[in-house]
Amino acid sequence: MPTLAVYPGSFDPLTNGHVDIISRGARLFDRIVVAMLVNAEKAPLFSIAERVEIARAVFKSQPNVEVDTFDGLLVDYVQRRNAQVIVRGLRAVSDFEFEFQMALMNRRLNDRIETIFMMPAEQYTYISSRLIKEVFSLGGRVHGLVPELVESRLRDKVMARNP
Ligand code: PNS
Repeated sequence: MPTLAVYPGSFDPLTNGHVDIISRGARLFDRIVVAMLVNAEKAPLFSIAERVEIARAVFKSQPNVEVDTFDGLLVDYVQRRNAQVIVRGLRAVSDFEFEFQMALMNRRLNDRIETIFMMPAEQYTYISSRLIKEVFSLGGRVHGLVPELVESRLRDKVMARNP
């Protein structure tokens, strides 16, 4: 049976850390679905439609990477998709506690779904979507930390706010 993995998250915005995990997942599993949670944050920087469009553009040449959205419980979505695996990235020990809680809660909700943790390349271990947004909004450089499309979309957002 082909292995289908789901990589869930907010992706507001997609970072090179996410891209690294997705690319590793695409090599390991037959197919990986980047599953974006709808309504994760009350005021996201990028709308869910923008986030989906960006991720689809970034992975357009990788046929086994799919981008989708979900709402409600992650395990219900994973089961609906007939996937066997949830992929989560682990950057540092500080991620571990929350990820451990989520993995065990998800296992309790559906013990046929396994959570697999993957480490991004070292150069991305300190980046997060939250930090990218903060640094960029304060005028800092995020070049090399996010896909170029994300960088240009971030610039568009700033231009739209301060024309
Ligand atoms: O990118 P994030 O914000 O770290 O992703 C968190 C996410 C979307 C994976 C998590 O909040 C989630 O799975 N939400 C869906 C609701 C759910 O299933 N909650 C119980 C998880 S134990």
